Amino acid sequence: MIEKVYLDNAATTRVDPNVVVVMTDCLRKNYGNPSSIHSFGRKSRALIESSRRKIAKLINASPSEIFFTSGGTEADNMAIRGAVRDAGVKNIITSKIEHPAVLNTVVNLEKQKKISLFYVKLKESGEIDLSDLELLLKTHKNCLVSLMHANNEIGNLLPIDTVSQLCMKHNALFHCDTVQTIAHLPIDVQKTPLDFLVCSAHKFHGPKGVGFLYVNKKINITPLIHGGSQEKNMRGGTEYVYGIVGLAKAMDIAFSKMSLHHDHILKLKKHMILKLKHLIPEITFNGFSSSTSKSLYTVLSVSIPEFENSDLLLFNLDLFGIACSGGSACSSGSSKLSHVISELHENKNQVVVRFSFCKYNTLKEIDYVVEKLRYLLD
Ligand SMILES: Cc1ncc(COP(=O)(O)O)c(C=O)c1O
Repeated sequence: MIEKVYLDNAATTRVDPNVVVVMTDCLRKNYGNPSSIHSFGRKSRALIESSRRKIAKLINASPSEIFFTSGGTEADNMAIRGAVRDAGVKNIITSKIEHPAVLNTVVNLEKQKKISLFYVKLKESGEIDLSDLELLLKTHKNCLVSLMHANNEIGNLLPIDTVSQLCMKHNALFHCDTVQTIAHLPIDVQKTPLDFLVCSAHKFHGPKGVGFLYVNKKINITPLIHGGSQEKNMRGGTEYVYGIVGLAKAMDIAFSKMSLHHDHILKLKKHMILKLKHLIPEITFNGFSSSTSKSLYTVLSVSIPEFENSDLLLFNLDLFGIACSGGSACSSGSSKLSHVISELHENKNQVVVRFSFCKYNTLKEIDYVVEKLRYLLD
């Protein structure tokens, strides 16, 4: 019997038991400080460096381009602030539907008068208007383009290759927040040149509090966090050895089983779309949520016309053991329409629910969720 269904995988994921094994093993055996020169330290250092090599290989980068961080937010800050401080960026082009890790950083830089900020136009479904992006790039020099690969609330995918080409054509730097896509979609930084790419392990069954920033070797930036000489002087502080080992293991698993997981999760998403359309004919899918090519397969964001007690929908689903979200995790808990949904919607009389899936979900769980929704809508 189903008691709990976790469909909030865009917020965070359950740690893979195989990741837990390597992390606990590492916790037990490897307590040496990686900066120490004795054998204990050298063992920890070796683990960090082999993790770095493994990760770099998976995205076709060089190990020297990978810098471990505490996760996505820090990596976004490190990239954007570094680009402004050290790479001559004077103008930042972003969109109004970026993650707060990017939006609040660029707004802060603008307030400090360090940059001029431009928001690229969005089409109706939240799609980036590429001709407006090109116009902005033509009219402004020394630009950093910061656009996310997949939107964490609605799943819209960026045509990353086209944006990469546009940035190269106009000599702009390209920072892509790939937190929702890395280890879910293949990425090759040689085929899709970009300057900064961001990863957070807890979005693909790795531990929380660890991630990395890829910095293209042609860019030189200085640290965000000053301290010791860790991470080639780029991030002071004793490394989170267990987290880094867990991140590498989670990435390894995700990359080796990517197409298997993709097919399984996409099947769940399509099943849910069909069932929801049948249950609620007036349902709408936010952004490109219902598209297979323009949306990330792990995310399904829907709008349901208001009904009695619809403001308690997430709460009532939770009583049935179902975890999903009304927007991003960062904005849940506030009744305000999220900044992403408000960019898309005129109609405020809708309840927005984001279901996000992972390899552990099953068709039975989807049926259970739809059955409970039917009960709550009656
Ligand atoms: C697109 C995106 N960027 C950045 C972050 C922040 O990552 P972290 O939680 O590792 O700081 C998240 C997390 O929700 C995200 O979805």
